[in-house]
Amino acid sequence: MCMSIKNTTQDVKDTLKLQPKISVQGKIVCYKNSKQTLLDCLESADIEVHYHCRDGFCGACRVKLVEGEINYPMGEPLAFVGEQEILPCCCIPITDITLLIDE
Ligand code: FES
Repeated sequence: MCMSIKNTTQDVKDTLKLQPKISVQGKIVCYKNSKQTLLDCLESADIEVHYHCRDGFCGACRVKLVEGEINYPMGEPLAFVGEQEILPCCCIPITDITLLIDE
């Protein structure tokens, strides 16, 4: 199992080329639009994620990152995130990722 969070400009540029795949709830979603957050991408694929602020403050969108790497393009969010948790409202995938969303 591999999980990490990176924050380099090169990581973000690499994301533009790779179009990472998101495995979640038995679906595979392709992250095609690098201007979208991960939350926007999931919503466009009809995958429901709870949210409130959509800006990294409240933590309502917290999901578990089972595998893969993400980036917070606007910097680290203020909301608390536990081990292996990410905030899809303000991150983007850098590699193929697997998510676990509590329902
Ligand atoms: S919706 Fe508030 S932190 Fe993501």
